Amino acid sequence: MKNLLMILVFMAMVSCGNSLTDNEKQEYAVKGNEISQATFNALSEKLTEQMKLGGPAQAIPFCNVEAMPLTQQLSDQYAVTIKRTSDKWRNPTNQPSERELEIINNYHKLISEKKEITPIVEVDNNNNKHYYAPILLKANCLACHGKVEEFISVKTDSIIKSLYPNDKAIGYNEGDLRGIWSITFE
Ligand code: HEC
Repeated sequence: MKNLLMILVFMAMVSCGNSLTDNEKQEYAVKGNEISQATFNALSEKLTEQMKLGGPAQAIPFCNVEAMPLTQQLSDQYAVTIKRTSDKWRNPTNQPSERELEIINNYHKLISEKKEITPIVEVDNNNNKHYYAPILLKANCLACHGKVEEFISVKTDSIIKSLYPNDKAIGYNEGDLRGIWSITFE
């Protein structure tokens, strides 16, 4: 009896420490949405500018140098950690954690079952809150993430390979799950 009580108390402690109310979940979902949108807009604005100036040959080296610092700048501005990650990453720095890979694989599963995919808010054992949301591939991403010779020229492919020798982020079709936003609130 005493043991059972101990177990119940322990379970209550664990679950209290690691759960969010519906209101909190809603609050982090709104914040996560806002931050991921702002980051997408910032990256996309610079990318479009560079694509206009010199196509993928100009935009890829630009992303190689600027994507991480720009993401870091927004992380500082919002006092969070913003990460874009994928099961098929280009920059090895963006490799997924174990939990991020689980989230990605679960999104793949839901997509294959034709179910809706929505952002996820959760709290970890250190009481950090996490926001995850799917990143889907659009037509204007194909020039750098599509199939070689169909959307990516051989020249572009060699630029990608020279900067990212272990690139996996190629061969996508429009609408595919490219990866996820992973935002950590401390
Ligand atoms: C001009 C080429 C180009 C275009 C167009 C482009 N990307 Fe990328 N993408 C890159 C490069 C280069 C990187 C690696 C950036 C770095 O080193 O941080 C990258 C990285 C990423 C990452 C981070 C994960 C990883 O694989 O390292 C995601 C997610 C991503 N791209 C999604 C997209 C989406 C979605 C679009 C369309 C809206 C898009 N990209 C359009 C070149 C491009």
